[in-house]
Amino acid sequence: MSSPKNAILTIGNQQIELPIITGTEGEKAIDLSDLRKNTGFVTYDPSLMNTAVCKSSITYVNGEKGILCYRGIPIERLIKDGVSFVQIAYLLVHGNLPNSSEGKAFSQLLNVNSLMHEDMRHFFDLYPRGAHPMHILSTMINALAVYYPNVDLLSLKEDIDISSARLISTVRTMAAFAYKKSLGEPIVYPRNDLSYCANFLNMMFDSPVAPYHISEQDVRLLNVLLILHADHEQNCSTTTVRTIGSAQVNLYATISAGISALSGPLHGGANQAVMEMLRKIQKDGNIKKFFDKVKDKNNPARLMGFGHRVYKTFDPRARIIKAECTRYFQERHITDPLLQVAFELEKAALTDDYFISRNLYPNVDFYSGILYRALGIPEKMFTVMFALARLPGWIAHWREMIGANTRIVRPRQVYIGKKCRIPSCNSDKSGVN
Ligand code: CMC
Repeated sequence: MSSPKNAILTIGNQQIELPIITGTEGEKAIDLSDLRKNTGFVTYDPSLMNTAVCKSSITYVNGEKGILCYRGIPIERLIKDGVSFVQIAYLLVHGNLPNSSEGKAFSQLLNVNSLMHEDMRHFFDLYPRGAHPMHILSTMINALAVYYPNVDLLSLKEDIDISSARLISTVRTMAAFAYKKSLGEPIVYPRNDLSYCANFLNMMFDSPVAPYHISEQDVRLLNVLLILHADHEQNCSTTTVRTIGSAQVNLYATISAGISALSGPLHGGANQAVMEMLRKIQKDGNIKKFFDKVKDKNNPARLMGFGHRVYKTFDPRARIIKAECTRYFQERHITDPLLQVAFELEKAALTDDYFISRNLYPNVDFYSGILYRALGIPEKMFTVMFALARLPGWIAHWREMIGANTRIVRPRQVYIGKKCRIPSCNSDKSGVN
């Protein structure tokens, strides 16, 4: 039987044909864009659980089968082929893996834009000690528009590559500076002779009194972690970027809003929350007691790093990260007691009815913190690492949204407050006008 072209909606004695849209992987959507115009009705879909807000050709996620592809390439293949994070950034933003000259030009652009405006360095002196680096990062990125004002739509059409490169490259520098500042240590400037990931690790850990030795294994691992977080279609922060961007806000303010969305514990902040949870369980030594809390409807506790709005099976990123954990710890001949706690916790959850019946599996954040910790990155910086990685994805979505001439995002609501006190407002008894 051929697939239907339309869906029929019956409202009272009115029948409306609604077009069916089919994506390249066969997923189907009912096009409701003219529904209100033709019927006076809107759809009600809190938290957009059931709404496709755009057409996109960047990333494909199949939550039932546990598939993730960037521009059609499965994530497992990108990792296996040893593609670098910079190549992934190019792939997401431009649509194809770079050939050798495109790759060289892009790396060159990243190098040219790696320095933060020197005046912005003083900002770091003014943040209180102990400020969360995600708050610092969102503020700093917003401030970029003051130093590099050509980020309105018109100028961006011409210099989008420069602005994208500036974000991807400078934000890495900012993140490392924020860390050095928090330690009270002198900052380390970026170096053009180093790769993206090696450069970041060097800015984080080099010191005038103890030169940093860049390990190939660390660089490889950081590459993998950044690639796995680089895009994930219409998640909360990307939807924020598309929404804010639709008002034609400048690119830096738009990305700064994405960073704020990412900082929440239900989103990018989960990697930090996982570590706090693992430590508590390690201290109590009692997984069952923790599960009792998680299952109690009156207790807000959750098994952090588990569950996903889209994945109803293993998150493919979690599988890769778990394998990387084993590989990295073996290669470096090191251990982490929290990794054992994580293994036991995962095993217990995957055999517990509560989690099985709700299709709750490890997500990308369950093991990522353990690896960041192994790299020496402090917990407060974990979500910053996620933000660094997600920049190419946000930029790609922003570009796609602008390119599609998206109208300003402006959802509707069902008003349930007091009735309007002006009598003429209530003259239409149908409630729909
Ligand atoms: N621990 C315990 N119970 C859970 C969990 C969890 N981690 N996740 C979902 N549930 C339960 C939830 O209580 C609900 O139970 P019931 O049907 O009895 O009311 C059921 O599972 C469905 O959950 P939901 O809240 O409707 O699921 P959602 O799609 O709204 O939320 C989520 C998705 C990721 C916010 C949620 O699973 C969660 O809070 N996980 C922990 C935080 C986390 O790891 N976040 C990282 C997500 S992946 C990376 C990213 O997006 O940044």
